[in-house]
Amino acid sequence: MQTRTLGCSDLKVSVIGLGTMSWKDCRYGVTVAPDAMPDRAGTQEVVRVALESGINLFDTAEGYGRGMAEELLGSALQELKARDQAVIVTKVGPLFSEEQIDERTCNLTAAHIRVRCEQQLRRLKTDRIDLYLAHWPDPRTPIEETASVMNELKREGKIRWFGVSNFSNDLLGAALKHVPVAVSQLPYSMIDRQIEADRRPFCLAHKVGIMAYSPLGKGMLTGKYTADHLPPADDYRHQRPHFAKENLAKHLALAQRIRETAQELGVTPTQLVLAWTVAQPGITVTIPGARTLEQVRDNAGGGKLTLTPEILARFAPA
Ligand SMILES: NC(=O)c1ccc[n+]([C@@H]2O[C@H](COP(=O)([O-])OP(=O)(O)OC[C@H]3O[C@@H](n4cnc5c(N)ncnc54)[C@H](OP(=O)(O)O)[C@@H]3O)[C@@H](O)[C@H]2O)c1
Repeated sequence: MQTRTLGCSDLKVSVIGLGTMSWKDCRYGVTVAPDAMPDRAGTQEVVRVALESGINLFDTAEGYGRGMAEELLGSALQELKARDQAVIVTKVGPLFSEEQIDERTCNLTAAHIRVRCEQQLRRLKTDRIDLYLAHWPDPRTPIEETASVMNELKREGKIRWFGVSNFSNDLLGAALKHVPVAVSQLPYSMIDRQIEADRRPFCLAHKVGIMAYSPLGKGMLTGKYTADHLPPADDYRHQRPHFAKENLAKHLALAQRIRETAQELGVTPTQLVLAWTVAQPGITVTIPGARTLEQVRDNAGGGKLTLTPEILARFAPA
């Protein structure tokens, strides 16, 4: 597994991480039903196999299953006695339904972050968060206030590094004046290349690492979906651009090209896609979501693969 250092931090991580949002009961903003039985044993196995496969980067958020993903990740690392092997990334800020006041959807005030950070440390069963991200911008709170509380949490040892997610260049630039920003977590994949035009050049110029999320196009690029075999009709992905009706033919054609090249190289489509992702300029690491042991092992394989310039060029922008 290739490793890299995250931006200005001293965090050495595997180029392929593990996203926890696709675990059972861990969807973004979804509250777990009171009678739900979280799959503790299953997620522990997923974490164990990830570590065994060379993955040390784990991405979660308070918003995933409203704390459930943090809880499951913390329990797994505790049971496996593997806290020190892992780099934990978690995020703070989003407000859901009953928490929202005055239509504010994200709260990055110092008071809110202080309370949430303590809750997150408890759920994660640790005394420190390795990388703490502001999940979404909060236009109502001056970035100086957020940066100031992050600097305090760093001095207290509760977080090691600060990062941002889904921030514009202007807001990231403003944050950089007050606090070191190790990483910007942004959507990026072969079918979602918007950041190439603006946010990637900015991160490169300011030496901020990019952590690419949804690198598999939410499953679209894994090669397993075809026109006759799509996620179930009630799956939320049909509402996302990756699987939206108007994009389907174009994305399935790309998936077919990925399958063909992967077959030629003797690798899986997912490994090809992940190796391509971390070979792109400015992309430091990527965090595919994985639900099963097979998916984790497969994804980890992408971090051991180096693609030739000729193969990389096959998937250059049209
Ligand atoms: N900062 C943010 O705002 C933000 C937003 C979104 C995501 N994220 C982070 O990024 C992570 C990944 O994003 P994502 O879950 O949206 O999309 P993704 O990584 O592009 O796709 C994940 C999905 O692909 C399928 N899959 C994964 N590995 C596979 C394999 N080897 N073979 C076949 N299928 C495979 C699984 O779904 P099926 O098996 O059901 O098809 C899985 O749920 C999240 O877990 C989260 O940590 C952050």
